Amino acid sequence: MTRPILIAPSILAADFARLGEEVRAVDAAGADWIHLDVMDGHFVPNISFGPDVVKALRPHTAKVFDVHLMIAPADPYLEAFARAGADIITVHAEAGPHLHRSLQAIRALGKKAGVALNPATPASAIAHVLDLLDLAVVMTVNPGFGGQAFIENQVEKIAEIRQMTAGRDILIEVDGGVTAATAPRVVAAGADVLVAGSAVFKGGAARYGAAITAIRDAAEGARGLIA
Ligand code: DX5
Ligand code: ZN
Repeated sequence: MTRPILIAPSILAADFARLGEEVRAVDAAGADWIHLDVMDGHFVPNISFGPDVVKALRPHTAKVFDVHLMIAPADPYLEAFARAGADIITVHAEAGPHLHRSLQAIRALGKKAGVALNPATPASAIAHVLDLLDLAVVMTVNPGFGGQAFIENQVEKIAEIRQMTAGRDILIEVDGGVTAATAPRVVAAGADVLVAGSAVFKGGAARYGAAITAIRDAAEGARGLIA
């Protein structure tokens, strides 16, 4: 059974002075989800935005808010992100010693739970939390910044997670350096959701639709949905 490919533009690459407008623009341009990168200057060497910004953006779209927490600790902030309108909350496996508890907490807030893995973290980090997992996020760059080069050897990890999650209702998301050129490889390995920051936003609003379509077409081609 083939699941549709979902494209999740990361607003980290948007114009922060016009975020609401940017969210509406990628929604209209065909984004499936909106990916929101939260960074704390501690877990990752960059600071982005927090729950108040997520809340302010919520009225601008009905699309799924895919909130990627690059913060440590994450647990004290889960409720704030849930209240702000997150649909999926992803924590990093490396962000704390109690991943299982974090996922329980996200589920208890009525949200979908995700785990992201840094490039150096093995797929086995999620082996014992699969029952609490809705989304497995394979980082194909070191988290903290947009516009970095795709780390090719992570494709193998995607394939490993695909095998590990077979038969379960868990989506695999790939985050970092995704373009129409790299999308086919991650999709062939088993990715369902493609996060794209620079590849969507770099051409300006008039080209958001074309950029999303280019990634989707390249991805679906790799799944054999398009000739
Ligand atoms: C990196 C973030 C990514 C980032 C992707 O820390 O988690 O979501 O915005 O940006 P691109 O697509 O430019 O690599
Ligand atoms: Zn992200």
